[in-house]
Amino acid sequence: MSLLEMRHITRRFDDDTVAVDDLSLSIQPGEFFTLLGPSGCGKTTLLRMIAGFDDPDAGSLLLDGEELAGVPPEQRPVHTVFQSYALFPHMSVAENVAFPLRMASVRRAEREQRTREALEQVRLADFAHRRPDQLSGGQRQRVAVARALVNRPRLLLLDEPLAALDLKMREQMQIELISLQMEVGITFVYVTHDQGEALALSDRLAVMNNGRVEQVGDPSDVYEFPDTRFVADFIGTCNLLDGSVGQSETGLVYLDVPGLGPLGVASDASPRTGAPGTLAVRPEKVRIDARIEPATHENRLEGTVHDQLYLGDVTVYRIEITDGQLVEAMLPNTSARGERFFDFGDQVQLAWRHDAGRLLAD
Ligand SMILES: Nc1ncnc2c1ncn2[C@@H]1O[C@H](COP(=O)(O)OP(=O)(O)OP(=O)(O)O)[C@@H](O)[C@H]1O
Ligand SMILES: [Mg+2]
Repeated sequence: MSLLEMRHITRRFDDDTVAVDDLSLSIQPGEFFTLLGPSGCGKTTLLRMIAGFDDPDAGSLLLDGEELAGVPPEQRPVHTVFQSYALFPHMSVAENVAFPLRMASVRRAEREQRTREALEQVRLADFAHRRPDQLSGGQRQRVAVARALVNRPRLLLLDEPLAALDLKMREQMQIELISLQMEVGITFVYVTHDQGEALALSDRLAVMNNGRVEQVGDPSDVYEFPDTRFVADFIGTCNLLDGSVGQSETGLVYLDVPGLGPLGVASDASPRTGAPGTLAVRPEKVRIDARIEPATHENRLEGTVHDQLYLGDVTVYRIEITDGQLVEAMLPNTSARGERFFDFGDQVQLAWRHDAGRLLAD
């Protein structure tokens, strides 16, 4: 059984703001589940309803099969870690962590033991007597996580907990969060608008847009096989070629793209001939070379190098394939001397396998 079931949840704030719109999701026990989406898409609103700080206008939330409506926040086996950490400045690290246990009237000996364990889990045992202002941002974040874990919640909600940290610290905390989650085995629902973070951390993720879920899946699935234009565009970079459905056979559709002719793309659906469609293909799936031998099950295009972006580990080439239309191809910089493969104005060929692309219905 799912740990958390969200069924047709809707939350309106006034007539024209539907923050969460008929959203359904199930979260499995032990999962690291991420809600990913742009600012304003309803992530925090959804977390607040799970925690019990706010109620849905319609729909239901079930934890272990039990309806949550009417259960006050402090009686839900759920804890939230906020971006701001919300530590008490006048209390020591240990007092901050022990606070939820004091509220729950846990006896002193047990309180001290559980506080010690929680601090060890986040590697802060030596900092128990410091005050929050004597810690770094990452350490404060770990105190907030320890305080959230000390009550042994079934579900830990984390709302952009790393947003305030610099890149290096954020990466370090990401690795710590993954190992901490595996160690304690508590289900995490993690909110972020950072796609790289979502891909790196999650067992599964839901991409949200305008209060709705656009796609749910494991990171590689969502990245490699976006279902919608929004997902393709929001996560990473994606070439999008618009056309109309031409011939199709089992598992394969040819899309007639103006100026380029028919391009093959794997598709489970069998859309009707003439329907609009978009071929989505990631730059790292597009091969680029001066000349590419034609092969079956591949699309091949020609163009000229429009510009290039050297990113250290890879170079992204933008190729003009028809007047004004660009396709991105990515090449790893594998040569020892760092010389470039192609230059502005070079004639090149591009190719990608039919099953490397995805057909998006418009
Ligand atoms: N208390 C409120 N009253 C009115 N509108 C609200 C309220 N809370 C949120 N909203 C609106 O609901 C929508 C969703 O807000 P929410 O805070 O859930 O977004 P978010 O995905 O968490 O965004 P961010 O990434 O910026 O934190 C927004 O349009 C927001 O303005
Ligand atoms: Mg938010």
